[in-house]
Amino acid sequence: MHRIIVLGSANMDLTVTVPRIPKPGETVSGNGFRTVPGGKGANQAVAAARLGGRPMFAARIGNDLFGENILKAFAKEEMDYSFVRQDPEIPTGVALISVDSHAENAISVAPGANKKVSMSDIDELMQFVSKDTYFLLQLEIPLEVAEYAIKCASSKGAKVILNPAPAAMIDDSYYKYLFLITPNEHECEFITGVHIENGEDALEAAGIFIKKGVENVIITCGSKGSVVCGSGISSIVPALDVEAVDTTGAGDTFNGALVVALSEGGSLMDSVLFATRASSISVTRHGAQTSIPMRNEM
Ligand code: ATP
Ligand code: RIB
Repeated sequence: MHRIIVLGSANMDLTVTVPRIPKPGETVSGNGFRTVPGGKGANQAVAAARLGGRPMFAARIGNDLFGENILKAFAKEEMDYSFVRQDPEIPTGVALISVDSHAENAISVAPGANKKVSMSDIDELMQFVSKDTYFLLQLEIPLEVAEYAIKCASSKGAKVILNPAPAAMIDDSYYKYLFLITPNEHECEFITGVHIENGEDALEAAGIFIKKGVENVIITCGSKGSVVCGSGISSIVPALDVEAVDTTGAGDTFNGALVVALSEGGSLMDSVLFATRASSISVTRHGAQTSIPMRNEM
């Protein structure tokens, strides 16, 4: 079995359920409020932990109440969070989330301490990375630090998985270090310029990533499922038909589950099926980390 290391963000999510997402300048009365630990990196690490991957998670949070509550939540998970540093100068990241009656969301993030993840953090983290590591990261930390981490982890022989969320443009020279990239449709369009309406569009966009040097591509498309491309495969995997109440963290659950299945030696296709099942469970529940399933629910 491979070791899993997740590098990324940790936020406190302040979520209001609303009948519809407010338009600019509009106030909409909601009917529920939750404070739930989130952040793309933390969600992916927690998903990997609940699904049996025993990951290590590296991040920065503030030395404040939200930070303390995040650490208390991590203490209940089967993961090594000794590399989650409490920054003395800057608050924990916060995400303001509106979830509408169709389970869709709008998210505004104040990155706080996530912005302080540094190259020297990466240098230190590299002592744990080897050719037996799956190294999973997103883009909610400084872009140049994410790029540096991709290059360092790859040079140690690790299999690097980039979930390019939120959408940002890494330099073209880093794609060749990626074992796998996992954008959603919007991130994919932002990076490749291909507007995805159907499977053919997704395969065209995946081809662009492969030309840039990425080994494997998975494009997640919400309730439509995902498109998998690489290692001799090119396939569309439908989502499961479930009643979604909140899709916050669906992509994170997908990525966390995916890396667990891969680390256990699963094929790319089998790992996508496992990730599809895990994320379909998560959308039937509210919140980010509160919605992530345990292995025995799978
Ligand atoms: P988020 O940013 O909300 O965490 P995302 O945009 O990164 O998510 P999506 O493409 O929306 O990721 O979803 C990831 C996976 O979750 C999909 O490929 C699918 O398997 C599952 N999923 C998402 N929404 C639904 C839904 N409404 N019904 C069933 N499965 C879903
Ligand atoms: O992907 C969902 C996550 O995005 C939320 O938990 C929020 O914190 C933002 O980072």
